[in-house]
Amino acid sequence: MPAKSDSISDRKKDHIRLCLTDKVSFKEKTAGFENYDFIHDAVTGVDISKISFNSDLFGKKIAFPFLISCMTGGTTEAGNINLKLAEAAEQLKIAVGVGSQRQALENNSFHSTYKIIRKNAPSVPVLGNIGAAQVLGLDSAKILYLRDLVEADAMVIHFNPLQELIQKNGEPLFAGVLKKVEILVKKLEVPVIAKEVGAGISAEAALKLLDCGVKGIDTAGAGGTSWSGVEILRNKNNENDFLWDWGIPTSRCIREIYKLKKDYKFTLIGSGGINSGVDMAKALALGADIAASARKILIELHHNGVSGVVNLINGWFDQLKKIMYLTGAENLPQFRENKLIGR
Ligand SMILES: Cc1cc2nc3c(=O)[nH]c(=O)nc-3n(C[C@H](O)[C@H](O)[C@H](O)COP(=O)(O)O)c2cc1C
Repeated sequence: MPAKSDSISDRKKDHIRLCLTDKVSFKEKTAGFENYDFIHDAVTGVDISKISFNSDLFGKKIAFPFLISCMTGGTTEAGNINLKLAEAAEQLKIAVGVGSQRQALENNSFHSTYKIIRKNAPSVPVLGNIGAAQVLGLDSAKILYLRDLVEADAMVIHFNPLQELIQKNGEPLFAGVLKKVEILVKKLEVPVIAKEVGAGISAEAALKLLDCGVKGIDTAGAGGTSWSGVEILRNKNNENDFLWDWGIPTSRCIREIYKLKKDYKFTLIGSGGINSGVDMAKALALGADIAASARKILIELHHNGVSGVVNLINGWFDQLKKIMYLTGAENLPQFRENKLIGR
């Protein structure tokens, strides 16, 4: 059915075009990081030169707890973007995600735009991606096929009820998806991560997902890129304007989901509106194991290429080291212990 495949590919192209502008930010709501301040430690004993972020993630070594969020694939432009994102991830030794692989099931015209990530990021965690709305209609073999296509170390299922509601030809039907996730967790042989795309995951929703066996929650909270905004602009009408700022601020998602760590073992990825080193530091101090960012990285790549992204992320982690020194945290576990106060 070429027409359908064209439309998915065109949609991906539109997403990239709109996300390279500032028109798709939240209008009034923020991720909420400004509500927190770091507690200064006048007697810090931290040696800044000894702070290291080396760790393991999904079976691979990483140098920084950072993920380039799932963005693209399945359209011509995506090949070049994914090539450069992969190069940046490999240089930095950080994780990188591919965008929704739904298009790859329609035909193989754009398979190379997905595969290019693993090819150029052989040593770091690569995350596959598919939508929860699509998972419902797919058997496990198809998802295993998508996992293998990108040689994924973990498979992300994105939950986007708001986007599906607004998107032209969207599929706002998620009933039964948790059962499907439970089956996939058993079949996929790699960790399954559940993520939103910018409206956030509540602690209650996270609990349901963890009970299905997912091994990671990526908050993708409100305050960064508004995916209802993206679809409203694509639809060229304002009937859904009231949903532009819909969602749970990222800082709240992280704070609440972190509390589940006392009963569940999982990787908490803090994302949604992480646009600076200080945002990233606050996400990690609130309890995220890993921070992630999407649109900011895409824009940096567009303007300054691979070296721009590498310098940006290195700069954020230099800032984090200074903040850890000033808060008296030698490592990230210490940094998660009461280093913030509400303003
Ligand atoms: C161009 C673009 C395409 C995206 N496509 C996907 C996708 O296919 N699958 C997905 O899970 N998230 C997708 N996202 C959402 C991001 O992964 C992220 O959750 C969201 O944009 C919020 O993060 P941000 O505020 O840092 O942009 C996309 C984001 C961008 C900017």
